Amino acid sequence: MSLTPMTTLDGSGPGSGHATPPFRSSISRRTSISLSLPASRRGSGTVPTMTGKDLPFHHRTNDGEALPHATKKTMADHLRKYESLFTLTPQRMRMIVDAFEETLDKGLQKEGEVVPMIPTFVFGWPKGSETGSYVALDLGGTNLRVCLVTLQGGGKFEITQTKYRLSEEQKQEEGEALFDFCAKCLKTFVDSYLADFDLDGATIPLGFTFSYPCEQERIDHGRLIRWTKGFGNPNVEGHDVAAMFRSSLAKFGVPIELVSLINDTTGTLIASQYVNPRTRIGVIFGTGCNAAYMEKIGNIPKIKQLGLPDDGEMAINCEWGAFDSFSHEHLPRTKYDIDIDQSSNKPDEQAFEKCISGRYLGEIFRLVICEMIDDGSIFLGQNTYKIEKPYVLETAFLSLMEADPTDELLTVVGIFTHFYGLETTLAERQFFRALAKLIGTRAARLSACGIAAIVSKMGYLDQGCDVAADGSLYSKYPGFPDRVHQGLTDIFGPKGKNIRTVHAEDGSGVGSAIIAAMTNERRAAGIFPHC
Ligand code: BGC
Repeated sequence: MSLTPMTTLDGSGPGSGHATPPFRSSISRRTSISLSLPASRRGSGTVPTMTGKDLPFHHRTNDGEALPHATKKTMADHLRKYESLFTLTPQRMRMIVDAFEETLDKGLQKEGEVVPMIPTFVFGWPKGSETGSYVALDLGGTNLRVCLVTLQGGGKFEITQTKYRLSEEQKQEEGEALFDFCAKCLKTFVDSYLADFDLDGATIPLGFTFSYPCEQERIDHGRLIRWTKGFGNPNVEGHDVAAMFRSSLAKFGVPIELVSLINDTTGTLIASQYVNPRTRIGVIFGTGCNAAYMEKIGNIPKIKQLGLPDDGEMAINCEWGAFDSFSHEHLPRTKYDIDIDQSSNKPDEQAFEKCISGRYLGEIFRLVICEMIDDGSIFLGQNTYKIEKPYVLETAFLSLMEADPTDELLTVVGIFTHFYGLETTLAERQFFRALAKLIGTRAARLSACGIAAIVSKMGYLDQGCDVAADGSLYSKYPGFPDRVHQGLTDIFGPKGKNIRTVHAEDGSGVGSAIIAAMTNERRAAGIFPHC
């Protein structure tokens, strides 16, 4: 296993990388249609052989002139159909927000709800005066990041980080192997960059950002409820991941002490508040999606037995990606969403996330394209096998298509010829770009519904607040923040403008360090020392 970092150490704290490309997980393939070659107008399919097996064929004509493309009118007709499927009206959005708010409330009442509303044991906001050096390890959906964060007080910090790309195999291997990999990366980082630290037998405090739903009994504990974002490592669900990681650290002799286990949304919330006191909500729109906010302890009935003061505050990791899972009552899922869900490694789970996050948007687009290939609307006479593979069309390509500045849509030409060997007409390219926009806009408007549910539940609308946002979709997808803002205005009317999203780059790593500092201070002061 390679321990070569993707990016080398960079004192300026680089961004978190672009919309996470390829997730080529073992999702079942679409069934090819069995066709007899001459009658077929499709570029690919299968023919039955004497042995009873289907043989795939991919047919390409060399006569470019003769390629029968769909006409502009046909493309416009198609677009109308997809517009009606993917467009969310303000009225529909308000219905979603109502149901969402109710779901958030339910999650605070008792354990085991679909949206688990997880108490994080992060008590209140940082003071801004937290100082010291902390190591933060961030296991996200695509990368593993190791950071050294030096809090300088007064809302200032310095971050030095290195990033490793996780392979698809690593997301499925034995859980222990995944944590061993994290420990080894941490050891490499400590050996390379912290050798000069005068530890004097002490250990370096670590904030571990583990961005999957974990039930917590205290801040340095977290039982994984379920994997999300395509991870499936056996023997982790139901286990305390903090304990698993501690044994990996011990196995490799890493002089690190895990102080806090947090979610990336909680980290983003706290890091952003450290520099911007208007922050009330932290959101991630990346490979996965989720939000955190600060709640009055008295409003969390399910932790009443802990005897914490009602007027204290605690951050809640909503895990809102699970909204509408299993029952599928509220979200306007299309057949493409259902297809993705049913062929995923977690059918029926993360229903909201599957309509929004970067892991799935490219695949939604691809499924529409495949449907149009199947019904003979596009790519007639061309080999389409490359684009028929699940998850080959990255969400980053939707960003690129939407951002194409040329009249001829040359970026779109490039994507289709280079990656899938397909020729396109201008009418088709205009359609593809419009389709990308429909899918990206629906994701942004659904994201606005989630934010609106928290705003409405917490009564933030009149006074207004900032929502700290990070993740590749938020930071790289053209127009995504504006579309979220438009969505908020459609839901709330002009007052929606009081809610502003703000990019909080690298919040999860910095937040992890701040929370580790807050935890050390709190415990040293004897405040809720067992939490
Ligand atoms: C996870 C969350 C995480 C989000 C963003 C979701 O799949 O369940 O814990 O915050 O992705 O990374």
